[in-house]
Amino acid sequence: ALVSMRELLDHAAANGYGIPAFNVNNLEQVQAVMEAAKETGAPVILQASAGARKYAGEAFIKHLIQAAIEQYPNIPLVMHQDHGQNPDVCKGAIDLGFSSVMMDGSLEADGKTIASYDYNVDVTKKVSDMAHRLGVTVEGELGCLGSLETMKGDKEDGHGTDDTMTREQLLTDPEQAADFVKRTQIDALAIAIGTSHGAYKFTREPTGDILAIDRIKEIHRRIPNTHLVMHGSSSVPQELLAIIRQYGGNMKETYGVPVKEIQEAIKHGVRKINIDTDIRLAMTGAVRKFLAENPEKFDAREWLKPAREAARLICKQRYIEFGCEGQG
Ligand code: G3H
Ligand code: 13P
Ligand code: NA
Ligand code: ZN
Repeated sequence: ALVSMRELLDHAAANGYGIPAFNVNNLEQVQAVMEAAKETGAPVILQASAGARKYAGEAFIKHLIQAAIEQYPNIPLVMHQDHGQNPDVCKGAIDLGFSSVMMDGSLEADGKTIASYDYNVDVTKKVSDMAHRLGVTVEGELGCLGSLETMKGDKEDGHGTDDTMTREQLLTDPEQAADFVKRTQIDALAIAIGTSHGAYKFTREPTGDILAIDRIKEIHRRIPNTHLVMHGSSSVPQELLAIIRQYGGNMKETYGVPVKEIQEAIKHGVRKINIDTDIRLAMTGAVRKFLAENPEKFDAREWLKPAREAARLICKQRYIEFGCEGQG
């Protein structure tokens, strides 16, 4: 059944677990998440980016998620707009039936320019007022996602800024977070702590100097009643990179956010953990392997099946690791 994000995150907070929010774009990804949730008894957050809505088309995204609700009526499911770039995008998502929206006002509507604090407060409050009247949950973002190694924003997946940033901009300030939440009345806050979108997050296993888990603790101490969200939280498993490389793919050396760091974050108020890249890596590795080993095959279902299977496995693993088992 479709539920509000607020309800799921409140339950996660009360029971000390975190919920992976998986980006979905097509049938196989939706099926993979739902099967993983069914097997683990987990609650589901399916999120669609602007890119997903463009790739699949509005009606397909809407009805793929509706189909998941119909096929799995006993699983609580949130339909979330990921990275709404302006209030109109959020309004469009609400009109489509989404139960939760992210207003990402950390960047201006062009998706590139680092926004002023006042701009962020203004657009986020606007969405918050509109969404809350309709029972829709709101996620905001304060601070700019980017790398503490290069001091650059993340532009890897085509949105974001590649501006050079200060440490200040790359780490959410706890005092400002308190003011932001008070002024916007958002339900959940995405924070910047050194993670970035895409496969290329860190050039080495991240430690405290480039992945600021301690900052989460400070923010949580300051705003204990706000659910925290971690974006750019794929772990980029080395095994998945190895499969892609073994079957002809070209992936440079890279590291993601270790699961044990996410588990630590969950102890300090992180309730929603955004994951897209790990599913991409899993599916790509599986397709490459299958086609390399079966060069005579051409039925799309035959190579989509191992891709869906690989996606299911990674989703299931994250549900278990983040403590979702039996919470749905
Ligand atoms: O926010 C980034 C997500 O990974 C979605 O990526 O915009 O390529 O769909 P996308
Ligand atoms: P990853 O690229 O680390 O999977 O992050 C996804 C994300 O934050 C979507 O909003
Ligand atoms: Na990156
Ligand atoms: Zn994100």
